[in-house]
Amino acid sequence: MSRLVIASNRLPVSIQRNDSEMTVTPSAGGLATGLKSYHKSNDSVWIGWPGIDAETNSEENQVIELLKKEHCLPLFLDESLIDNYYHGFSNETLWPLFHYFTEYTIFKKSYWEAYKKVNEMFAESIIANAEEGDQVWVHDYQLLLLPHILKERRPDLHIGFFLHIPFPSYEVFRILPWREEIITGMLGADLIGFHTYDYARHFISSVKRLLGYDVEFNNISLESRHVYIDVFPMGIDYAKFQDKAIEIQSKPIQDRSKEHQDIDRFLMEKPGRKLILSIDRLDYTKGIPERIKAYRQFLIDHPEYKENVSLLMLTVPSRVDVDQYQHLRSEVEELVGSINGEFGSLSWNPIIYFYRSLPFDNLLELYSSADIALLTPLRDGMNLVAKEYIASKINHKGVLILSEMAGATKELGEAIAVNPNNIQDVADAIYKALIIDVKDQAASITAMQKRLKRYDVHKWASEFISTLEKTQQKQAEKQSRKVSPKLLKAIKEKFNAARNKVLFLDYDGTLQRFFGNPEDAKPDKELITLLKSLKNDENSKIVIISGRDKTTINEWFGEMGITLIAEHGAWIKYANEDWKERIKRSATWKDNIRPVLESYVDRTPGSLIEEKTHSLVWHYRKADIELGALRALEFKTDLSDLVTNQELEILEGSKVIEIKETGINKGNAALEYLVDTDFDFMLAIGDDWTDEYLFKELPDTALTFKVGTDRSAAKYFVENHKSVRSLLKSLIE
Ligand code: UDP
Ligand code: G6P
Repeated sequence: MSRLVIASNRLPVSIQRNDSEMTVTPSAGGLATGLKSYHKSNDSVWIGWPGIDAETNSEENQVIELLKKEHCLPLFLDESLIDNYYHGFSNETLWPLFHYFTEYTIFKKSYWEAYKKVNEMFAESIIANAEEGDQVWVHDYQLLLLPHILKERRPDLHIGFFLHIPFPSYEVFRILPWREEIITGMLGADLIGFHTYDYARHFISSVKRLLGYDVEFNNISLESRHVYIDVFPMGIDYAKFQDKAIEIQSKPIQDRSKEHQDIDRFLMEKPGRKLILSIDRLDYTKGIPERIKAYRQFLIDHPEYKENVSLLMLTVPSRVDVDQYQHLRSEVEELVGSINGEFGSLSWNPIIYFYRSLPFDNLLELYSSADIALLTPLRDGMNLVAKEYIASKINHKGVLILSEMAGATKELGEAIAVNPNNIQDVADAIYKALIIDVKDQAASITAMQKRLKRYDVHKWASEFISTLEKTQQKQAEKQSRKVSPKLLKAIKEKFNAARNKVLFLDYDGTLQRFFGNPEDAKPDKELITLLKSLKNDENSKIVIISGRDKTTINEWFGEMGITLIAEHGAWIKYANEDWKERIKRSATWKDNIRPVLESYVDRTPGSLIEEKTHSLVWHYRKADIELGALRALEFKTDLSDLVTNQELEILEGSKVIEIKETGINKGNAALEYLVDTDFDFMLAIGDDWTDEYLFKELPDTALTFKVGTDRSAAKYFVENHKSVRSLLKSLIE
């Protein structure tokens, strides 16, 4: 039975030094608060930074012992790593960039080096603690390199990764100097989860543009495996919030906590008085100054609410050593002071401000008592506070004003959605929330509660883990088609024993890698030497079978004394003979189609036309990846109208679309070649759709190999052109 290892920078609890004593306190932040319920109810171990710089061995041992009770393992970081990896790369580079605060983003090599080092340290700790086949669930932006390091060193582990913050659009992500390393790091996972579809699509777009991998729906094809991308909006421990809210509300007033009684008194002092609540870590992404300004605007627009409404702001200290957070604190406190000074009275504070974190019970008292929750982040991966507020409303009274920039807005459609940058919009929303009638409040809350109850944090985590298990099965099926050392040995024995052998080898993407410009793909020295050695085996026939035009193929291989099949089978040149055209037809159709292709070239920068005897080809490898794919779709629709009645067919290869005369394909060309000889060893390797004809037509005894892991009629798969070369080399060694 495989175990689950959770890895995140922040553990569900943090260790603090109070005088000489170590104490355990719950960590703030959505990752820790959300995931801890799942961790508690499952047999998992959680590895992370304990939040303290242990100074001696004895302190380290104390921390280890304290965390053992929580099923956690500490990863100790010294001061310099905390500065460079945690405050630095995590919170001064990735955090601002991923939240679109490019002006706050700092790029420093020392930060990057520390980030790599800590990701390595996490890998070592996981490897030391994970058994064969265990599941590892890596969390958040502090550990983006970890999945790849783990996959390289422990391919047996099943790795899931979840990003708790937004993934920015490619235009922002591309600013990062280490962008390729970062997405390669994430792609080490078998499954990558995001809170919303927008984040997932931004990630996929960066993968396509930066690494050029093919993506089909939510499935990214790497050379030797697939990575699945999916959306899992994180939920909360719904029952825990409901139960606590019921407990708190049902207590008689005199039995309530002092804090709760204070809130009650404040509300009862004036009939009809309302409490607006906002809770966040003190973070510039949360839009706190903008929110205060909107509240001020509301007080100006609606003076009748003076003395009748207060905004209770709980700001939780966060990343206090980072400059931006220190500046923000001063800014917020100045704004609070100025508004209280401007509007307040002896008996009333427009803003009640706390800078601290609160125990769970007090948090619930605030949620239960507040008439309105005003949550207006400028960017937020999810915002669990919004969900917690709704879950705590057992009497169905309350209104949520939520920023449309928070991930949670997708699931909380009944909330009043605001653009947090639009001060007037937020001010108007406050007024609207104050006058909504109770029936409408109840209808909205009930609808949202239903959703939050169904998809709670347990469901979120178990869906992620069960999807990870499904991806494991799919990966295992794929891997069973990979050429293993055992299979290679069997192929070699067969090859050595055979007397009459033929090898059909596709060229682009099979023997050679793809180049932006197809003309650059000419064979290198290593390839020529390999083909010569293969040819030297007197029992072997080598056939290069390509979609390329015959002139190029002839230029590259014409003198080698091997058989060449060009233009998908339209032309054949038997070893040491002249070229023969297999099918002769007039090509007048080209005059109708060529102008269409030209219009696509004009509208798709980087694309080009290639003309062959029996076909016209549109190449778009060098075009913008998304524009190319879009135009390809458009092009196929246009063509399907044009090619009817013309005995033409459309072939789609890797970043090429070819319009060619029917009846010509690699499959029938290969069969024609096989007619006169009785081969006792047949092998074919190809990488794209056009090679499928070959795989399908060859007899069952043929050994067929597809380059890449896409679906194919071939029996086996190899990773890339390098693996093709080494497979061929090993046959003759
Ligand atoms: N929270 C807390 N202590 C507090 C105030 C808030 O533990 O004093 C919790 C809150 O209940 C929520 C989390 O911190 O679960 C904040 O998560 P959210 O997703 O809203 O924002 P994040 O801090 O992750 O950006
Ligand atoms: C956000 C991040 C978490 C982080 C939390 C608190 O929720 O997504 O990864 O743990 O903020 O921040 P901190 O820096 O204190 O861990």
